[in-house]
Amino acid sequence: MTTIEAPAPENTQGANKFGVAGAPGCLNSADAIISVRHRRKWFQVGNTILGFGQKHWLKAVDDVSFDIERGKTIGLVGESGCGKTTTLKLLLGLETPTAGEIYFEGQDVKTLTKAGRKEFRTSIQAVFQDPWSSLNPRMRVNSIVAEPLEIATTMTKQQIRSRVGDLLAETGLNSYQGNLYPHEFSGGQRQRIGIARALALNPKVITLDEPVSALDVSIRAQIMNLLVDLQEEHGLAYLMVAHNLATVRYMCHRTAVMYLGVVQEMGDTESIFRNPTHLYTNALLSAALPSHPDIEREEIILPGEVVSPVDPPPGDVFMTRTPLPVDPAHEYAKVRPALTEIEPDHWVTVTPWSTLEAANKTGINLSLSVDEEIESDSFQGGGN
Ligand SMILES: Nc1ncnc2c1ncn2[C@@H]1O[C@H](COP(=O)(O)OP(=O)(O)O)[C@@H](O)[C@H]1O
Ligand SMILES: [Mg+2]
Repeated sequence: MTTIEAPAPENTQGANKFGVAGAPGCLNSADAIISVRHRRKWFQVGNTILGFGQKHWLKAVDDVSFDIERGKTIGLVGESGCGKTTTLKLLLGLETPTAGEIYFEGQDVKTLTKAGRKEFRTSIQAVFQDPWSSLNPRMRVNSIVAEPLEIATTMTKQQIRSRVGDLLAETGLNSYQGNLYPHEFSGGQRQRIGIARALALNPKVITLDEPVSALDVSIRAQIMNLLVDLQEEHGLAYLMVAHNLATVRYMCHRTAVMYLGVVQEMGDTESIFRNPTHLYTNALLSAALPSHPDIEREEIILPGEVVSPVDPPPGDVFMTRTPLPVDPAHEYAKVRPALTEIEPDHWVTVTPWSTLEAANKTGINLSLSVDEEIESDSFQGGGN
């Protein structure tokens, strides 16, 4: 008798088809190329003399879980210092983790063979924020784009030359431009060079750390459209950090809002923008979106500055920033609350002091202020 396998469960906290355990906020879809689970990065800070004295921990990333799905973009947003870049660096192997796992196509990367690790490393490439400092000024564009092919493949010079030509064409550059140096290009063109280089090894995932924020507003849409086209063409997955919320809404299928190293709201991008639920998300939106006569949104001020991530509270990290009263005896003042799914693929940290609904009930007058980095910008989407 043949048994019919049930389809891989979606949108559950059960294990995915690879057997990777779910976590709150994770779709756990069968298309997950990478699953990050309970990742932490704590930096030890302050002075301890010969190991004595109190240790202080700066919890840059504290129990973050998400999936990166084939052909999709997941965005990380939040104020400066909330742990976005550290999350990317953990994925790229540029920081050693304090705890947690990364699964590559279902396999814990700690258990990969040497060949498996090499495949994992070439499958994830990065495009950086600053196209001025991220390209070697002494190398011609052809060499910059060819370098990963020379290091990681056995391709002949001829094959590399032809591949570089294809990559330049694909990213909207002319072949003669391969003989030029980075300083001979505009910011947008340099970002195209960075993207061509990132594509060279046919990665499955590209991390984008604020890929357009250093560019002129007028050319941001071009680069974003290029990224979207490349995604569709190659089924690429992106993990994108952006502080511009219009960029996030345009590019990201799913979004995670981070505060003090912790994801506070996460899920389908449109659900979050349509129904922002956490007070912090609402504060980001009210600070960032240009006011439109049709949109009624109260401006929200969160008291104080971004709180230091050194020795954050054991419970809800948002409790030191909320304008609502916090009952220190409440369970969530002592124990970190998990994300709750409030509608399909929309997850929020719900505590008596963390949601817009709770604020509305108290009648507290909220008005605006989050970090200056969350700029309001005139980019209005890009279309296709
Ligand atoms: N190497 C490091 N040593 C100590 N603290 C660090 C280090 N790297 C980052 N941090 C701290 O970790 C927190 C998160 O930083 P980062 O991930 O760069 O934030 P974001 O990209 O969201 O602005 C910040 O408080 C930052 O100062
Ligand atoms: Mg950063």
